Amino acid sequence: MNAPDLIRRLQPTEGGATALPADAGVYDASQTPTVLFLDQTGQLGGAEFALLPLAEACTTRSEVVLLADGPFRTRLEEHGVRVKVLSDARVSNLDREAVRLNLLSAVPGILRQIRAIAREARRFDVLFVNTQKAMVLGALGKPLHRRPVIWFLHDIMSRAHFGRVQLMVVKWLSRYVVDQVVANSRASAETLSALAGIPLERIPVIPNGIDAAGFHKIDADAADDRAALRRRLGLPENAYLAGLFGRLAPWKGQHIALQALAKLPDMHLVLVGAPLFGERAYADGLRLQAEELGVTGRVHFAGFRDDMPAWMKAMDMVLHTSIDPEPLGRVVIEGMIAERPVVAAAAGGVLEIVRDGHNGLLAKPGDVDGIVKAIDTLRLHPDMAHRLARQGAIDAQRDFSLEAYVSRMTQAIARAAR
Ligand code: UDP
Ligand code: GLC
Repeated sequence: MNAPDLIRRLQPTEGGATALPADAGVYDASQTPTVLFLDQTGQLGGAEFALLPLAEACTTRSEVVLLADGPFRTRLEEHGVRVKVLSDARVSNLDREAVRLNLLSAVPGILRQIRAIAREARRFDVLFVNTQKAMVLGALGKPLHRRPVIWFLHDIMSRAHFGRVQLMVVKWLSRYVVDQVVANSRASAETLSALAGIPLERIPVIPNGIDAAGFHKIDADAADDRAALRRRLGLPENAYLAGLFGRLAPWKGQHIALQALAKLPDMHLVLVGAPLFGERAYADGLRLQAEELGVTGRVHFAGFRDDMPAWMKAMDMVLHTSIDPEPLGRVVIEGMIAERPVVAAAAGGVLEIVRDGHNGLLAKPGDVDGIVKAIDTLRLHPDMAHRLARQGAIDAQRDFSLEAYVSRMTQAIARAAR
């Protein structure tokens, strides 16, 4: 029996500790720390997809605390993970603006949440914080829970994404309170290193791992299969389809993709994703923009979808258009594993995934003409597109395997717990 199977058979007991079945063999649960995972959102963003397999690998000796309810809770529970939601509306709705205007009135709620998190954390060996707000609240409660804090950094720590106050708070907490930071890319690690003055070599990089199995199951490489798949998904069977995957948000640059679409008259664009964090106005704006550009008939707003492999395999190419540096970009890795040629924005973690002309194409962030040119290149040179897609699949499966990710991350957690 391998370790994960055995871990699965360990029975959880009150307090998050584990009890070994009688025939547990050589596996020594006392060596495996118990973990409290903390994440601020109930939505399904990339950081949450990154946490899912970790929490799943540790089901018997961990719990996940979410600071807001949502589909992420259901997803975790479906995977056998124990979840607790500690939501406080006043803290959940705390955005940059509110912090500036209304910090004092939020203080009691924040303190309550810090105490509640600390109460949970005390029952485990180590506290794993997966998002910014989780890090801040978990770290501020350290005098109460006295557990090592490991922070999985998923962000580029820059003014493009965060306010001055938040950057300052992160700088001090990561320097003096957090015990171990692990970054999702070298790009993210470098920005934290520069912000907090933490030497880069003390921030190990563990890129996300993607489960390739789901992609291998979808047969869509023969023309007939692809047509059937497109029919099932309600997509045009014969058009050239570019797919852009990810939540609808200004920095993800869906508006740039629409501008490119306007310059590529016989292409269709499929936008898969929803506004997850209050970007409703941007999403509405995209529809208006499509109308103004006269491309409504060639844009497909698919909304949030669960079956990424099918949607990606239905495409001719996968597009990534973030205008700010992407911390990592799971969707780029997924597009490559789907064996579709990718055109991605050349910044941040994407540069650790795509090598221009080798396993995909890069365009400058926000450079509409550059994107148009790259897509034209793929269409004019189908052999090259095929070769890039093939190489992309090889590279992405080698560099972003789920097994390696879970194993490296569980080792990092164990080290942080010592
Ligand atoms: N995703 C999904 N359904 C959608 C859109 C996106 O399941 O409709 C997934 C996508 O497969 C990827 C994740 O959401 O795994 C987005 O992660 P990424 O790192 O690309 O971006 P983030 O949202 O974290 O910035
Ligand atoms: C974040 C980033 C994204 C990254 C994901 C997983 O949400 O925006 O680029 O891929 O985390 O680490």
